[in-house]
This record gives sequence, structure tokens and C-alpha cells, in this order.
Amino acid sequence: MGIWEIIDFASLDGEIQELIKESAAVRENAYSPYSKFKVGAAVRCVDGSISRGCNVENASYPAGVCAEVTAIARAVSEGKRKFTALAVVADQENTSFTTPCGVCRQFMSEFDENMPIYLTRSDMKKVLRTKVNELLPLSPFRTNDTETS
Ligand code: THU
Repeated sequence: MGIWEIIDFASLDGEIQELIKESAAVRENAYSPYSKFKVGAAVRCVDGSISRGCNVENASYPAGVCAEVTAIARAVSEGKRKFTALAVVADQENTSFTTPCGVCRQFMSEFDENMPIYLTRSDMKKVLRTKVNELLPLSPFRTNDTETS
């Protein structure tokens, strides 16, 4: 895999399909009266459980949180810090994908820089697959002098 690739939902493992479906379901709970843009995320923990989250906006705009942060923060609150995959569902009016913002990339890299990321639209037909360290290369604390580029 390069930095990212686009694949068919139908070609994914059942566990990944389930993760994407969960992110689509929790997207319905998005609190986004300001942007009107609903996002759902779901992260698979190593114990097999799924933690879901949606974006939660605020009248003070910067206080809002993204779906990815909600999902990861919920898992960490339950004592889970190791993850195997994260899915994000959001709609675009065109054929592009919604990719995590810089803060979310930083938030994800804290826990697993190798984690696969699956981005899709609510029709769940095409999926963009990438990894945290492709979204945020050379993340802080993870690079040491024995590694090469
Ligand atoms: N948003 C997310 O929750 N995740 C993303 O990956 C992209 C953006 C939210 C933030 C804000 O509530 C709304 O979508 C519009 O940017």
C-alpha cells in the first residue's frame, strides 16, 4: 500500500465492515448545528470491542470536538489504549473523502502510529484506506536515531 488506496467496501474483512457500519450508525448522533456536517467514527480495541464517537460542536466553535477524538477518548476512558483500526464516515457532495483534521491526526498518533484508517461516505461503497503515520509522518516521540526514512 502507498500512502492511501481506494477499495470496495465489499472487499473488506467482515470485522472492518462492521467497524464502518458502526461509525455510520453513530454518525446519526452527531451534534453539529453550526456546520450541519455529521461525522461518525469507530475504533476497534485489541480486546475486540468497538468504541464509537460523533462530532460534538459548541457555540464557542473551537470548543467542539471531532468524531475521531470522541471515539478514542471514550475508549481510553474505559481503560483501552491499544487499537487495531479506526473508521470514519462523513458525507461529501462530490466524490471526495473526508479526511481527519490535523488535531485528530495528532490525537491518533499518540496511541498507534501504525493504525489503519478507513474513510468512507454514508453510502459505504468506496473506502479510502490509509494509516496514521501516512497522515502524520515523523510524529513526535516516535522517531529515534536508529530509524531511517
Ligand atoms: N469533523 C470531524 O468530526 N471529523 C473529521 O474527520 C472532519 C471534521 C467535524 C468537525 C466539525 O464538527 C464538522 O465536522 C465540520 O468540520
